[in-house]
Formats: sequence, structure tokens, C-alpha cells
Amino acid sequence: MKVVFFGPPGAGKGTQAAKLSECFGIPAISTGHIIRQAMVAGTSVGKIAEDYIKSGALLPDDIVFLLVAERIQNDDCQKGYILDGFPRTLVQAQLMDEKRILVDFVLDIELSDDSIVKRMSGRRVCNACGAAFHIEFNPPTVDGVCNECGESLTIRADDAPEVVLKRLAVYHEQTEPLKAYYEKQNKLIAIDGEGTVEEIFRQIKEVASKAGDLI
Ligand code: AP5
Ligand code: MG
Repeated sequence: MKVVFFGPPGAGKGTQAAKLSECFGIPAISTGHIIRQAMVAGTSVGKIAEDYIKSGALLPDDIVFLLVAERIQNDDCQKGYILDGFPRTLVQAQLMDEKRILVDFVLDIELSDDSIVKRMSGRRVCNACGAAFHIEFNPPTVDGVCNECGESLTIRADDAPEVVLKRLAVYHEQTEPLKAYYEKQNKLIAIDGEGTVEEIFRQIKEVASKAGDLI
């Protein structure tokens, strides 16, 4: 099964992709997490990425495409993959189609801009494994410590309020038009992103199982 998690920043893509990954036994691949890891490691991509991330802009399409194309060659992607945050421009989606990087369906998590701002303001993330928590809505068991791997939690540099607003504007301008592209291919499935993590996951599991039966 090859799934894309689509939606605005802070919609819950990473949170839900991790749950679906565990449930279906296929890897969740977050381009944002790969880029942040490259920044921590100081690789050439990481150095290029820094200015884009800090300003809330998207990285160039060719760089992100190569990161994904390389990642899905790994053995763990043989049975499928969950792409979180990719593609997010028309050029990225067209490159995928050209290079036969297949997508069965696209889960579009829909959430109002107001809810997004609330969710981003309390987010804490683990730089080691990529898990995301929220100080109020989805707190870790031990304050400041990742439930998954025990590393310290931090605030993402691009969760500063002014950068969140820029990322939302970028989403509406450059990413949202992709919905029409996948609607035309009959692959877009809308998910109501308001509600608890478990409520949203129930919806996702149901539609993913139905869509999986049709693949
Ligand atoms: P990326 O890391 O992908 O960020 P994003 O798309 O902006 O989305 P987020 O990770 O911020 O949010 P999310 O939807 O995963 O929500 P989460 O589950 O954490 O990208 C970062 C940057 O990398 C981009 O700006 C760009 O520069 C670059 N980049 C990445 N991909 C790229 C691409 N394809 N092309 C070019 N550049 C690219 O949840 C948010 C918070 O809400 C958490 O605190 C969580 O605990 C909480 N929460 C989740 N669900 C619920 C719920 N149901 N109720 C209450 N709280 C909830
Ligand atoms: Mg994410």
C-alpha cells in the first residue's frame, strides 16, 4: 500500500502517519524529518535547507524529490510506504508520476487555520525519532522526554508564530492546488482533522482499509 498524507502544517500528518505505520507495518517517511536530521548532521542538504526551514519556505523540488526517491529504494519499502509531507507542489507530483513512484491514495487531513495555530504553539518534537507531542492535547508520559525513544523533546525552529503563518500561506499558495491534481486521478480522500488523535485515526483506518481492499 502506497499512501500520501496531505494537509496543512500542523494538521496531524506526522502523528497519524506514525500510527498507520505501526498498524500496517509499512514505514512512514516524513520529508520534514529527513531534512531536519540532515540539518542536525550538517550534511550538504542540511546546510542548504537551513534558510528555507527558518523562513517557512519549501526546499527546491529536485532536492526533496531525490531524498524521497533514494529513501524508497530501501528494503523496508518493498510492501509499501506512507509519505508524510511529500509531494507538496505540482512539480513534485508530476516528477513522481514520471518516475513511476506510485501512489494508491492521498489522505487529505483538513483543519482550520485557527486550530492549526493552537496545535503548533504547544508542539514538542523528538529530533532523534521524529515523534511529535503536544503539551496539552497529546502530552508525553514524562515531561520533556520522548515516549518512543527516551530522548529530550524540543520546540521546532519553524514553530515560531511568524514562521507558522508563513508556512500556512505557502501551503495555501503552493500545496493546496495539488488537491485538484489528485481529485482528477480519483485518489483524494478527505479526512476531518478536528477531533482527538484517536477519533481521527479511526476514520483513517476505516478509509485506508476500504481503499486497500480496492487496490
Ligand atoms: P514538515 O515537517 O512536513 O512540516 P509541515 O507539513 O509544515 O507539517 P508539520 O510537521 O508541522 O505538522 P503535521 O501535519 O505533521 O502535524 P503533527 O502530527 O506534528 O515540513 C517542514 C519544512 O520542511 C517545510 O516547511 C519545508 O521547508 C520543508 N519540506 C518538507 N517537505 C517538503 C517538500 N515536500 N517540499 C519542499 N520542502 C519540504 O501535529 C501537530 C501538533 O498537533 C503536535 O503537537 C501534535 O501532538 C498535535 N496533534 C496532532 N493531532 C492532534 C489532534 N487530533 N488533536 C490535538 N492535537 C493534535
Ligand atoms: Mg510533521
